[in-house]
Amino acid sequence: MCGIVGYMGSRKAYPILIKGLHRLEYRGYDSAGCALISEETTGKKSSERSYRLDVFKAKGKVADLENTVAHATNTSANENLTKEQPRGPLSACLGIAHTRWATHGVPSEVNAHPHVSQSGNLTLVHNGIIENYSTLREQLRKRGYEFQSETDTEVLVQLIDYIMSYGRCDLATAVRLALQKVIGAYAIAVIDKRHPGELVAARKSSPLAVGIGYAENDKTPTEFFLASDASPIAEYTKKIVYLNDEEVAVMRLAGRDANITQSELSITNLKGDAATAEIKEINVDLSMLDKGGFPHYMLKEIFDQPNVLRVCMSGRVINAPYTDGNAPSVVLSAVTNHRRELLRARRIIIVSCGTSWHAGLIGKQLIEHFCRIPVEVAYASEFRYGEPVIEHDDVVMAISQSGETADTLAAIQLAREQGAIVFGIVNGVGSSIARESHMGTYIHVGPEIGVASTKAFTGQVTVLAMISLALGMARGTVSQEEYETVLRELTLIPEKIETVLQQNDKIKKLAQTFTYAHNFLYLGRGFNYPVALEGALKLKEISYIHAEGYPAAEMKHGPIALVDAEMPVVFLATHHQLYQKIISNMQEVISRKGRIIAVITEGDKGIVGKNDPRAQQKEYAGALKVEETIEVPATLACLAPLLSVVPLQLLSYHVAVAKGLDVDQPRNLAKSVTVE
Ligand code: G6P
Repeated sequence: MCGIVGYMGSRKAYPILIKGLHRLEYRGYDSAGCALISEETTGKKSSERSYRLDVFKAKGKVADLENTVAHATNTSANENLTKEQPRGPLSACLGIAHTRWATHGVPSEVNAHPHVSQSGNLTLVHNGIIENYSTLREQLRKRGYEFQSETDTEVLVQLIDYIMSYGRCDLATAVRLALQKVIGAYAIAVIDKRHPGELVAARKSSPLAVGIGYAENDKTPTEFFLASDASPIAEYTKKIVYLNDEEVAVMRLAGRDANITQSELSITNLKGDAATAEIKEINVDLSMLDKGGFPHYMLKEIFDQPNVLRVCMSGRVINAPYTDGNAPSVVLSAVTNHRRELLRARRIIIVSCGTSWHAGLIGKQLIEHFCRIPVEVAYASEFRYGEPVIEHDDVVMAISQSGETADTLAAIQLAREQGAIVFGIVNGVGSSIARESHMGTYIHVGPEIGVASTKAFTGQVTVLAMISLALGMARGTVSQEEYETVLRELTLIPEKIETVLQQNDKIKKLAQTFTYAHNFLYLGRGFNYPVALEGALKLKEISYIHAEGYPAAEMKHGPIALVDAEMPVVFLATHHQLYQKIISNMQEVISRKGRIIAVITEGDKGIVGKNDPRAQQKEYAGALKVEETIEVPATLACLAPLLSVVPLQLLSYHVAVAKGLDVDQPRNLAKSVTVE
């Protein structure tokens, strides 16, 4: 949670910071702020120049911060970004910025970051939690420090300030010493107005990346970027260093500060021992970072699904459908390279959170079906604080879109310590979970920005299907015929999703008639049970309607008491072996006057919408009449979730839009939960 951006170079910092904050807004959006260090008096020599620090903060979103800055600098928000500013904060070439998801202290201007030290020299942004902040605060109070905010972060900036002034050390040393006293998680960026050629950053359990810009044909850095993920950096440079836990990065630019003679990035551990800066080339498709003509990221990402699933399978599912008469197969390097460890596994434990946990429930069914290995699915937060029995040959699979979820990361660290093999199924390339895993498969669905996860879910299920088939084949627990049939069907899923997406207008209309509801039930069985959970979660997340997902047959043991003429009940009733049972469950709801929306298989004549003209036709005479149906193409039971989840994503999206809610940034949520 919380997004951090930083810049130091020769460009104007403010537009880079603001654009970066917009890209990171998915990480938190209850308040935002930025700090800019600009030249106050000029001089030929760096010793003749003096600098000022300006801090702007706003409660609310990044757009509110832009308005605050515009107001304070007497410019319009757009001018801020375009106009040449010869003087003042907008001319600054050094700055840090933050978008917040509150942990300690309510969302307010005073609690927003950056926080400034009592001396007025230092300013800091932080993502994470300082667990021992109250002890540190008391110690600092006794030494005369006063605190303005209720945050844990302010303690850190004061502590660094204290160490710098009493220890007479430089900023980097003070940061290292301060962090040695901190218990908790952090990604921080700190600047000092007396040293405008220096930007210091550090991380532990919260992500942070440093981007490095070079002059053409030169190996000397000319500018540095800092961000919680690569998206704010990608358009300026491809060279990125992902910091490791307990590393401190010191970026220095010569010429601005009399003490700095060489421009460089140096990385050390908290003790000051040098660490290697491993520079990676990133390849981010910038078009994935904007809405591409859609009104919201969520809608764009729902519509992205056919293409991103093609990318996810490309080079992995081979010859399906037949191209040259060769049998289709699936090749995953993780499974090929770690075949021995995977074949030894007597149990798989899946750990994840939120939507990724729902994908895990589908993964359990897929792995048990194709590989005949027992699978347990645990909420990462419960797993890490339970007393999990982990055996040496267990494989722990971590599923995570961001690759940064704190509980999932801690769960795999625990599993590793206890001897398990960790398999990561992650979207965030280079993320913490990807790096902590022994092996893994990226889902490769591109950046997901809408807070409600959509394409990551279908990407995770696609990868889980590929892993189960590859492992099932290696174990000899799946027949060649079934293996080929499922692979061929898997490659048809993207075009079948396109067919579902064509019903967008119909689902939009349908959604508008259900905005009155305060409760929804989602029911499904077998592979569609986790889809029911996911449909309910989507609705809760973005439209604030209470929704429960349940296994359809369990409805009789409680939720049926809620059913009345007001209650919308979404049934996942696609044609599979439990179809007849689902029909009986639907009858039970109809008898209690519940309003059924049924997701059915195209051409199903057993269920029909009561206002559908086909209801009058002879062949539908025996059909069950429900409020509305949404048809999805036929597919195999084990792949059904990839199709049946799509109308539920669209339904929740349109209900939220019809209610006038902020779909991409729903209240209280954040996309990447890097705190416990
Ligand atoms: C948050 C997000 C969800 C996501 C969950 C797990 O709650 O809002 O969309 O499913 O975290 O995140 P991960 O990145 O680990 O999949």
